[in-house]
Amino acid sequence: MRRGLVVGNWKMHGSKASVAELVTGLKRLTSHADADLAVCPPYVFIPSVVDGLAATDITVGAQNVSDQAEGAFTGEVSAGMLAEFGCRYVIVGHSERRTLFADSDKLVAAKFVAAQQVGLTPILCVGESLAQREAGETLTLVEEQLLAVIDSAGIQALSKAVVAYEPIWAIGTGKTASPEQAQQVHAHIRQVVAKASSTVAAGLQILYGGSVKADNAAELFANQDIDGALVGGASLQIEDFAAIYNAAG
Ligand code: 13P
Repeated sequence: MRRGLVVGNWKMHGSKASVAELVTGLKRLTSHADADLAVCPPYVFIPSVVDGLAATDITVGAQNVSDQAEGAFTGEVSAGMLAEFGCRYVIVGHSERRTLFADSDKLVAAKFVAAQQVGLTPILCVGESLAQREAGETLTLVEEQLLAVIDSAGIQALSKAVVAYEPIWAIGTGKTASPEQAQQVHAHIRQVVAKASSTVAAGLQILYGGSVKADNAAELFANQDIDGALVGGASLQIEDFAAIYNAAG
């Protein structure tokens, strides 16, 4: 049985005051025996969030990482640094990185490998644009994004990773994929992995992301291949985030 997982991606939001408030709210949540909770703040808030949540079961991740271990890479943050500061997860390949910062499949795979080398669990994001969905390319595109990582990291690497299906047209738009649309892609992701290893496929947590809210989380989680959510906007409101977590537990 796979555990549920709900991850908040705070993106580039927050201030010292709002982060302190969110941490206070997170500390009050009751944890579920069968579902985990994690948050991914902007880099600068990571140390205070790790400290603030130290007495809880909630873990912390970063939203991006360098593919390089160290060196003259102005503005970058290495996986080793994230691990030293108490991160458990790191998001790689978010569509905002792929589209706004030109993170290619190859770079995403290198970031994935760099994260695992220091023991971080990568959350690999895949997903199609509206044009790609309308052209009927969703399943092939998601498969390509996944295979780019499997080809360079190996299938066993997915036993220490999480995959998040995030259709670009559903991110921050209030337009969620229907539970059937999401389940179809999740099942495809699991099948692609199963071709290489049925054991890895069976254990892989696959999250859905894209306008997940308190009122649509339960119907998404009711599907057999949807193991949780990667939540943007609603993760900044403690009541909404708590409701999504409760739906997963
Ligand atoms: P929203 O939940 O705001 O649509 O964002 C989804 C997302 O991109 C999470 O990584």
